[in-house]
Amino acid sequence: MLQPPTSDPNWFDPLSPLGSAVRYVAGLSPRFNWVGIYVLDGETLELGPYIGAETEHTRIPVGVGVCGTAVSEGTDQNVPDVRSRENYLACSLETRSELVVLIRDPRGKILGQIDIDSHTPSAFGASEESQVQQVARELGARWPDQKK
Ligand code: SME
Repeated sequence: MLQPPTSDPNWFDPLSPLGSAVRYVAGLSPRFNWVGIYVLDGETLELGPYIGAETEHTRIPVGVGVCGTAVSEGTDQNVPDVRSRENYLACSLETRSELVVLIRDPRGKILGQIDIDSHTPSAFGASEESQVQQVARELGARWPDQKK
């Protein structure tokens, strides 16, 4: 049955908006080895819910690393080979490719980002990228006051 455009997507849990987005994205591909959401607070990205290995990068200044560059440039980052990026912040030595998709509110303001690491080089094609962008749009339209 067609749903009206205002209805919540199936993955969305109102009790855990960010966590449910992370769980859904992590299930999209076995190549997604680490999935997390960073929340933008002023000039700092703060790690929210994530699935995967623990990371020391829980706070990333805007402009630093692939994550901080996404915010300072206002563009999603699809990095087929993280070893080619001088500003890459290694989360795990196994990581070979990374996708960062910005989460914006419906007016375009950056709220945070979905960050995905893969052990596979060039893990993120156009279809993966557009699936994650869709989740980011849906989450951005339902951004909660409490970041859980
Ligand atoms: N690789 C990211 C840091 C975050 S970890 O991947 C979880 C970066 O370069 O910004």
